[in-house]
Amino acid sequence: RITEVTPRRVWDSRGWPTVEVDVTIAGGRSGRGIAPAGASRGLHEAVELRDGGEALGGKGVAAAIEAVRREIAPALIGRDVQDQAGIDGLLVALDGTPNRSRLGGNAIVATSMAVMFAAAADAGLPLWKHLAGATVPKMPLPQIQIFGGGAHAGRRIDIQDLMVIATGATSFDRALEMTCEVYHAAGRIMAERGLLQGVADEGGWWPAFENNEHALDTLVRAIERAGYVPGEDVAIALDIASSEFGKDGRYRLALEDRELSSDAMAEMLIGWLDRYPIVSIEDPLAEDDEAGLVAFTAAVGHRVQIIGDDFLVTNAGRVSAAAKAGACNAVLLKPNQAGTITETRAALAAAQAEGWGTVVSARSGETEDVAIVHLATGWNAGQLKVGSFARSERMAKWNEAVRVEQTGLAYWGPTALKR
Ligand code: PGA
Ligand code: ZN
Repeated sequence: RITEVTPRRVWDSRGWPTVEVDVTIAGGRSGRGIAPAGASRGLHEAVELRDGGEALGGKGVAAAIEAVRREIAPALIGRDVQDQAGIDGLLVALDGTPNRSRLGGNAIVATSMAVMFAAAADAGLPLWKHLAGATVPKMPLPQIQIFGGGAHAGRRIDIQDLMVIATGATSFDRALEMTCEVYHAAGRIMAERGLLQGVADEGGWWPAFENNEHALDTLVRAIERAGYVPGEDVAIALDIASSEFGKDGRYRLALEDRELSSDAMAEMLIGWLDRYPIVSIEDPLAEDDEAGLVAFTAAVGHRVQIIGDDFLVTNAGRVSAAAKAGACNAVLLKPNQAGTITETRAALAAAQAEGWGTVVSARSGETEDVAIVHLATGWNAGQLKVGSFARSERMAKWNEAVRVEQTGLAYWGPTALKR
């Protein structure tokens, strides 16, 4: 039974306020959830409650914290902490809006996560094990950012994430080791060219490139410099995040100063798939371009994983509809996009029912919270996207995965990729 729900304001990896919630149960055990925050958000995702005004860039969370204190806490006291679905349903009903704008998606997701951690503590189990139940899950395949761009780097290049997947690794630990070599090789190359300018929001190197393809070329060089064979040992994964620069079928590439139609955008990306060892591509076309996504999936869905993020916003109904329409073959799962843990789980189940790939993901604004590692593992999702290989809000998650793997779990490896 829940005895206490305590919210507080803490700070995220970009130095902005966010909501943390502690849920305590009879006997004193407790769980904690912290809301992450996106920068390249989908139109249809759950919205955060921010105070607005002059102070704290308008990003204050006083109202969200008040919502937990005044409305959420009284509703949860006395509830069975193991009833995640019941509690999440209650949170959704209490909010009463379609997009969580009244109590705040940040207040709700932090509470939902805290309940989940408290339930694991109640059971005396690590969270991943509590979530897995009778299944013996496998460690997910990580996608790790090397260069950050788009909204995470002042739109210095159009592509948001240039990532690697260590397809040749036979364990999670080895995948991290290989990524470490590539990440630092990329940094050395940037330094030699006089292009090293620090890191972007998720810890990937700041993309001081002439154009998008220059970034792709440099990533291939970094894989080689680290001593690996591109496409064999280490492959490339991209998040184009094209909703950030595409609207109404027009795609505006800022760096190259040109505007592409949906067809031309797809053609450019397919050219990249032909020339670079890319195994996964996220949001290749914008959230409002379903026809473009359908055409793109028909053209290359048999040879590359196509992940819907902004287009699907971790929503089970949108996943099922997209599968029916033939748009995408994998889904990105972000709990704060869905709103609650139960809705995130439903989106995962909808994707699994379609035979899709499933990737549990962090946001660009993160904290020391490691819930996503446990979700990816405990739900046996197969894949995990955390950001880069620097900055402690990212490393906290990779390090948590190292600890989970040490308990003896097998590793999904590249079989988790949908292709
Ligand atoms: P966001 O982006 O967290 O800034 O929205 C992450 C992503 O697009 O995958
Ligand atoms: Zn994305």
